Amino acid sequence: MNDTSDELRDGVDCAGRSICRFLYASRLAPGQPATVVGALLTQARERNRQLGLSGALLFDGEHFLQLLEGPAEVVDALARRIEADPRHTEVQVLLHGADAQAPLFQRWWGGWADADAVQAFLALDRGDPARLLDAFRALVRDEGDMH
Ligand SMILES: Cc1cc2nc3c(=O)[nH]c(=O)nc-3n(C[C@H](O)[C@H](O)[C@H](O)COP(=O)(O)O)c2cc1C
Repeated sequence: MNDTSDELRDGVDCAGRSICRFLYASRLAPGQPATVVGALLTQARERNRQLGLSGALLFDGEHFLQLLEGPAEVVDALARRIEADPRHTEVQVLLHGADAQAPLFQRWWGGWADADAVQAFLALDRGDPARLLDAFRALVRDEGDMH
């Protein structure tokens, strides 16, 4: 295990670091109308562009998967708001930390993901941050451009 992986796995938050990543999985909260997802994607796209964040938000009809990456203080503040957002539930933080590598995404992506692919992703070893990030990037690439 190298230093980068240790930092990613052990980072509680990104205080004092330059580039921060926050990756989580959650479920649409019971009783939320289907229209909420479109509204969330629109809101996230606009806000993240303003905030200078890259990453992706995927939805498979039930689960969300999201990676946010950018300046530490911006990512940490948004991570707290997202974790408290009642429109989703069962938020599982998969990664929250910083490393010296460049952002995985040049910009913001959002859209639909295949449910089987999301299940396969959620079954991955949570203790291997680099593998999780690779798999997340592959999941987004497989879905194509979803704007
Ligand atoms: C699954 C999910 C993903 C979200 N992703 C983002 C996001 O990427 N960017 C964003 O600004 N808000 C996102 N939000 C919305 C935030 O939780 C929050 O509503 C928003 O930042 C506005 O916060 P405010 O009302 O305190 O200003 C997301 C919410 C959910 C439920």
